[in-house]
Amino acid sequence: MMSRLRAENRSMLGNYDAVARRAMESLFRTFENFSEGTIVVDTNARVVWINKRYAARFGFEDAQAAIGLECEKVIPNSLMRQVVKTGKPILLDILETPQDPMIVMRLPIKDNDGNTIGAVGFALFDELKSLTPLFTHYTRVREELMATRHTLEQTRRAKYTFASFVGNCPATLEVKRMARRAAQADAPVLLLGETGTGKELLAHAIHAASARAGRPLVTLNMAAIPETLLEVEFFGAAPGAYTGVERKGRMGKFELADGGTLFLDEIGDMPLMLQSKLLRALQEKEIEPIGSNRIIRSDVRIIAATSADLPALVEAGKFRADLYYRLNVLPICLPPLRQRQPDLLPLVYAMLEEICTRAERDAPVLTQAALKMLVQYDWPGNVRQLRNILERLVMMHDTGEVDDSTLASLLGLRVVQDPGSLPAQPAAPEALIQPPPELGYAEAMAQFEAAYLVRALAASSGHVARAAASIGISRAALYKKLVAHRNAGRLPGRGVWNLSG
Ligand SMILES: Nc1ncnc2c1ncn2[C@@H]1O[C@H](COP(=O)(O)OP(=O)(O)OP(=O)(O)O)[C@@H](O)[C@H]1O
Ligand SMILES: [Mg+2]
Repeated sequence: MMSRLRAENRSMLGNYDAVARRAMESLFRTFENFSEGTIVVDTNARVVWINKRYAARFGFEDAQAAIGLECEKVIPNSLMRQVVKTGKPILLDILETPQDPMIVMRLPIKDNDGNTIGAVGFALFDELKSLTPLFTHYTRVREELMATRHTLEQTRRAKYTFASFVGNCPATLEVKRMARRAAQADAPVLLLGETGTGKELLAHAIHAASARAGRPLVTLNMAAIPETLLEVEFFGAAPGAYTGVERKGRMGKFELADGGTLFLDEIGDMPLMLQSKLLRALQEKEIEPIGSNRIIRSDVRIIAATSADLPALVEAGKFRADLYYRLNVLPICLPPLRQRQPDLLPLVYAMLEEICTRAERDAPVLTQAALKMLVQYDWPGNVRQLRNILERLVMMHDTGEVDDSTLASLLGLRVVQDPGSLPAQPAAPEALIQPPPELGYAEAMAQFEAAYLVRALAASSGHVARAAASIGISRAALYKKLVAHRNAGRLPGRGVWNLSG
């Protein structure tokens, strides 16, 4: 009885073995037929066998030439060695190749005692069509990741350090002392000062000297972005949250800056509605992308800057008092250049050196009268204006001396006979409307536009949105144009535009 059972058992086991073996063989054959690429490696991950088409894909005209090579020599990103080493399969994976990515499956080959003696890999590339949805998703996620990494890398590094902030007069030293102290702290910093006084430069320097220096510095300019897009810029949006420019969803600057610093430039231009949302985000250290019910914890340090008179805006009900107090923890006032006369020549020399090195030109030599004119001029556009003038000097006069009359024409000053009676008077804006014929066409048109925009602003009492509406362009477009003209030295700076709204 017992022996009959044992015999049956044995024959059944024999059957099982056969079925199992058949299953393995047919599995291999099915996969081999089905897949477009098959590779077998030994215990040392050397290629034992590879089919023709797969070898050809990796540049081996003759599949035999791949036999005996280490698998990575044939397939650069191969993970077959890992399978041989661990004895564990990698059931589904995406292999990047110089052409399209492929779906691959890698299985260990075991001997009767369960030792790994090699591995087999199958690649499916013609079957990818059936995997299109998965692939589209993968490709999109990968593209988004690359784009985000790129943005992060660009924004991550601070452009300037304290060493870039030139000047040694007492007022400047005090600014630097306070900024260094701010770098040690983690509370919000508020940078105040006229246009071109170095607020952005200082924001970079503070970030670079802070404990967050290894994390991103992300900038958001309140005035340059249309009001309707600001909220998305801040908090991000879930995919499909809005039907506008992007349906894919967008990562907000708050999230991008996580662990780092968020630099809010022109904070005075922030719409009231957004001010309350910002306040809440700062208090709760949490944000919610538009159209999602995902709450994101965000740890950012705020540096805000403005050339506007914030207390006056609070008074006028255009800036929330509670937000103002929240931001006004470490205020730093950057003095205008005209109050830092001892810094003027050090700034001139430092900037000339940098401009000339970059432009590969010799530094122009300024006459005593020209230097005196620089020191006595009142610089409404501050260091930025000074820099523009120097850039233009370098471009125009790479050899020889620059005298006061050349400088006067660059500064738009009426040349005064007796240089002792400086400061000279700035030319009236009307003078810009009639550019001299020796100017190139493009520059003449640009000067006309600058003067035209200033007039539109003046007619709207400096209210950007109203001025933009009156001449039929958008608020953001008007702002961008003004900034471009200012950066090109055609307009002195914000103090003169007196923007609001
Ligand atoms: N102390 C300084 N040393 C060297 N360069 C400076 C200094 N201050 C400002 N600059 C330069 O002047 C230009 C204007 O500075 P920045 O953009 O920081 O001004 P801002 O205060 O942000 O002006 P705005 O309010 O118009 O945005 C930049 O090119 C900057 O590098
Ligand atoms: Mg700025």
